[in-house]
Amino acid sequence: MPEQSNARPDRNLAMELVRVTEYGAMAAARWVGLGEKEKADGAAVDAMRLMLDTVRMDGIVVIGEGEKDEAPMLYNGEHIGDGSPPETDIAVDPLEGTTLAAEGSPRALAVIAMSERGTMFDPGPCVYMLKMATQPAYAHLLDIDRPLAETLQLIAREKGTGIEDVTVMMLKRDRHNDAIAEIRRAGARIRFISHGDVSAALLAVQPDSPVDLLWGIGGTPEGVISAASIKCMGGQMVGRLWPRNDEERQAALDQGYDLDEVLDVNRLVAGDDVFFAATGVTDGDVLQGVHYTARGATTESLVMRSRSGTVRRVAARHDRAKLREISGARVG
Ligand code: FBP
Repeated sequence: MPEQSNARPDRNLAMELVRVTEYGAMAAARWVGLGEKEKADGAAVDAMRLMLDTVRMDGIVVIGEGEKDEAPMLYNGEHIGDGSPPETDIAVDPLEGTTLAAEGSPRALAVIAMSERGTMFDPGPCVYMLKMATQPAYAHLLDIDRPLAETLQLIAREKGTGIEDVTVMMLKRDRHNDAIAEIRRAGARIRFISHGDVSAALLAVQPDSPVDLLWGIGGTPEGVISAASIKCMGGQMVGRLWPRNDEERQAALDQGYDLDEVLDVNRLVAGDDVFFAATGVTDGDVLQGVHYTARGATTESLVMRSRSGTVRRVAARHDRAKLREISGARVG
């Protein structure tokens, strides 16, 4: 007989968080294609901050818009929510892909993740990390120290194809030139993105994804946010901090960071009860963006919780006039 658990279903905070990301996405979407990335980001921050106060929690921003003196809202260390339990850590990226939104390019997202207090990795001075992420079927093959070409061969074997049917998604950056040459020498394909590696991680970990591996050096905050989604959805990510220069390396060492440590999803987000919500701002491979209609807008979101493993796709229709009334014209 299966063992009975006494745990009862409780509040799924992701269901509240999706209202926050929907608000953020709709506010940012007003700036899509207008070449104003700061304004797009500011609109998303403002709208998400407003909505976050309605969430019943005692949250601390671990990953946010930067330090207090440079960010008026959603800064690292800010308390959010109405102050009632549970105590949580928050990682928030009101507009992941600011340039994508400003350029009207695919894959911009509004995203937030939450876990128990003290369980999220604090990137400190480490702006970048090397990360690789893949779907559950290849998760056991991720090894940050193995030559990339060998890992691609192993993925091909597991997939039952030749290496020419293995696709790596990566940010197009000069710092990736050696890896680009290695992947091409091995015979695998590359799908470049200009920005937005959270969205790339969401795509790479889907079973039957057209992308077999996300690889590359990108933001550490984005790495933590991606890890939260992978804890909910399945798949794996491994990474390592990647200081940009000696000064950053020294700052990290002085603050006790181990630059050799392999960071997997459980190290990046150690909690057992992780919540994640993301809403598309512009159309992408995983989520549709905000679409305007005569009366308002439609949004598409992913809403997930690690404990239950439930992944919801939420399609919403929003009424502009009513939203403007409720939000004091910040959204709609
Ligand atoms: P922003 O939303 O802050 O513009 O970041 C987008 C992004 O592309 C992330 O997805 C990625 O992790 C990081 O920037 C890469 O940084 P860089 O553009 O400096 O290489």
